[in-house]
Amino acid sequence: MMRNDIQEVLFSEQQLADKVAELGARISADYEDKNPLVVSVLKGSYVFMADLTRKITIPCNVDFMAVSSYGAGTKTTGEVQIIKDIGSKIDGRHLIIVEDILDSGVTLSFLMKILKARGAASIRLCTLLSKPERRKVDVPVDYLGFEIPDAFVVGYGLDYAEKYRNLPYIGILKPSVYGGE
Ligand code: PRP
Ligand code: MN
Ligand code: MG
Repeated sequence: MMRNDIQEVLFSEQQLADKVAELGARISADYEDKNPLVVSVLKGSYVFMADLTRKITIPCNVDFMAVSSYGAGTKTTGEVQIIKDIGSKIDGRHLIIVEDILDSGVTLSFLMKILKARGAASIRLCTLLSKPERRKVDVPVDYLGFEIPDAFVVGYGLDYAEKYRNLPYIGILKPSVYGGE
């Protein structure tokens, strides 16, 4: 059972659903008549993206990018790799980047830079979680779900070594699972 590897449930399914609905309503109000392009940063944001876009009540387009900086470990390597690029033309478009978690900020600052260079009319960030204590690069967040302490969290798309993404809630992983104290 995956639940045995979880020390504590941080956000229940209901808490996540309430927050996602709130963010969807804010985005819908802000982007009326703008037909935003909502870009999910895979893999971590896949669950959040599916739930969030269904709470956006205005027309929008969706696209997906896959980047990775963590590999199999719990620490960022500092190097961001593009594994899959978006297919849409972004020139003149209003972009909303959807992330599961903002940690060091390396991934998002890299993405912002390359997407701005491609001529987006505007770019905003929507992240479900943020760990402010861990920030190395300053990244402005427009839509934030929750600020969390520096603990290793999994579930609702977030993984440890590609596991636990399918947990329906967000929990803190027991340090013993990843060889911590
Ligand atoms: C995780 C997470 C964010 C990024 C945040 O992705 O989903 O994309 O790290 O970390 P940062 O702010 O320090 O850059 P990961 O690289 O593990 O890939 P994944 O989404 O496929 O799990
Ligand atoms: Mn990710
Ligand atoms: Mg990961």
